[in-house]
Amino acid sequence: MCSIIGYTGNGAAAQLLVKGLKRMEYRGYDSVGIATITSNHIDIRKGVGKVSEVDNSEKLRLLVGNMGIGHTRWATHGVVNNVNAHPHKSSTGQIAIVHNGIIDNYNILKKELQDKGYFFKSETDSEVIANLLQYNFDETKNIKKSMIKTVSSLKGEYSFVAVFEHGLLAAAKFHEPMVIGVGKNGYFVSSDVLGFVEYTDDVIYPDNKEIVIMNSSGLLQFFDFSGNPVRHQITKVSKEFSDVYKGEYAHFTLKEISEQPNTIMRAGQACEDELEKIITLLKNAKKIYVTGSGTSYNAALVAKHLFLKYGKIIIEPIISSEVRFYPDYFDDKSVLIALSQSGESADVLEAVKIASNKGTKITSIVNISTSSLVHMSLHSVSLNCGPEIGVAATKSFTSQLAILYKIANSLVDNSLKPDFLKISKSMSEILSDHEHICKISKELKNATDVYVLGRGIHFPIASEAALKLKELTYIHAEGLPGGELKHGPLALMDTSVYVIIINPNDSTYVDTLSSTYEIKARKAKVIGISDKNDPIYDHWIKIPSISEPFYPLLEIIPLQLLSYYTALEKQTDPDYPRNLAKSVTVK
Ligand code: F6R
Repeated sequence: MCSIIGYTGNGAAAQLLVKGLKRMEYRGYDSVGIATITSNHIDIRKGVGKVSEVDNSEKLRLLVGNMGIGHTRWATHGVVNNVNAHPHKSSTGQIAIVHNGIIDNYNILKKELQDKGYFFKSETDSEVIANLLQYNFDETKNIKKSMIKTVSSLKGEYSFVAVFEHGLLAAAKFHEPMVIGVGKNGYFVSSDVLGFVEYTDDVIYPDNKEIVIMNSSGLLQFFDFSGNPVRHQITKVSKEFSDVYKGEYAHFTLKEISEQPNTIMRAGQACEDELEKIITLLKNAKKIYVTGSGTSYNAALVAKHLFLKYGKIIIEPIISSEVRFYPDYFDDKSVLIALSQSGESADVLEAVKIASNKGTKITSIVNISTSSLVHMSLHSVSLNCGPEIGVAATKSFTSQLAILYKIANSLVDNSLKPDFLKISKSMSEILSDHEHICKISKELKNATDVYVLGRGIHFPIASEAALKLKELTYIHAEGLPGGELKHGPLALMDTSVYVIIINPNDSTYVDTLSSTYEIKARKAKVIGISDKNDPIYDHWIKIPSISEPFYPLLEIIPLQLLSYYTALEKQTDPDYPRNLAKSVTVK
């Protein structure tokens, strides 16, 4: 999703903004722009493409000035082009803004402003903020008042940063991420700490419905949407935030896949206090719901199998974006576990709000401990797997599973105790052989359809593997529950199709092998993921043997690698897949 950034201080704003935007590239975007203030004038440069491409063509970092704003846009309203790229200036050119989120009532506001003589250049909803601020500033001649009047008219969810040509920067937060960096030589406002962590680890997290005003002379004022002053403590952010370099790895995705033997151990040491509190709530709950989107939802599906098979406990996984259709599901005797890497996915936050309004107790498992989801939770456990920059979730998935295993183990009286050291060593074993997977990817790159088949607890892993393939390689991929083959998908099997069979040597083995024979009889190619070879496989990817419930933690690793190497073969960018964003902060 869009990233916003602003800076005011002694430094060269344009260079700091460009660097910050590069650090936040993981959020996903299609165009880039910055604006700086020099001699009471706002200069804007922007364009379509990656930050480095637009910087090369438009010389973003050569803009002069010590105050400025920057943006990477993920198009929602209006096509991807230079005009729609941010920043947007007001009609008079005295104010420029960058915005993340959606203004639901922009059409009405735009019409009202046009009637008053303000003109618009872009198709975006965001431009309305620039002209509305200008109108309110023209009326009040006061920046604080103009910000308050502006936010009182906006409907939707947003954070935005505005610069006023006479040298003041103001920002507002309403249900979209915004964090302030308090440096020795200046202040930052950003969608993510990563936008400025190289320069300061002193951070302020404004609450929702807050405005901040700052300038180069040290002014830093917070107030709420009604204009009341707000005081904040400075928080020191964890050093691990600075761990945002690829190091020896060609891509963040490969780095993050490779980190899993380590991150699984860290998740295994998850904060016991919070975990215990969640477990107590679950033991007393009438019903347990688990929600998440994408990969996090697939983790919820694994949890369903674990709880049911090993604890005879029925839990209900619900896709977060579907929760709004079932608000009456929830009550005050139930507990919701929300799963999210970012803790900022709009769908997840909305699901939590709906459940919370019905009195359901909210717990969460989240990577970013400063995120909105953590604030909305009664108790939250951190994944503690460090920043995940690659857009496709990898290490956060296995860390989510690790914590869900720990919870399941407590609920089933310790009969499901994960041996994280053994799991970590087995992951390292899988990761020691990239060559074989690389070879298979050279063949897989030509596939147009890939099916991933698994039974029982392996079906969610099949869905997760298909999601990775879609995202990273743009090949059509689908997860199939093995038993459903004859109920439809068998019609699709022919020589052009690849089927990945998740078939560890456990209680699902025999049934899954017989599905493989049926597939092979229709001449599709099969890739077996298993600790036991069989001549039926065209390719066999070996995984170490482990006790039955823990196979999911191992079998996903070669599938992540296979997607990564197939992406390289197809020359797609595995870190930043097209059209996708790391933090999906709009509905
Ligand atoms: C898949 C992927 C997405 C996210 C989904 C939820 O690789 O990254 O499907 O899993 O957008 O994101 P979080 O977990 O941050 O709520």
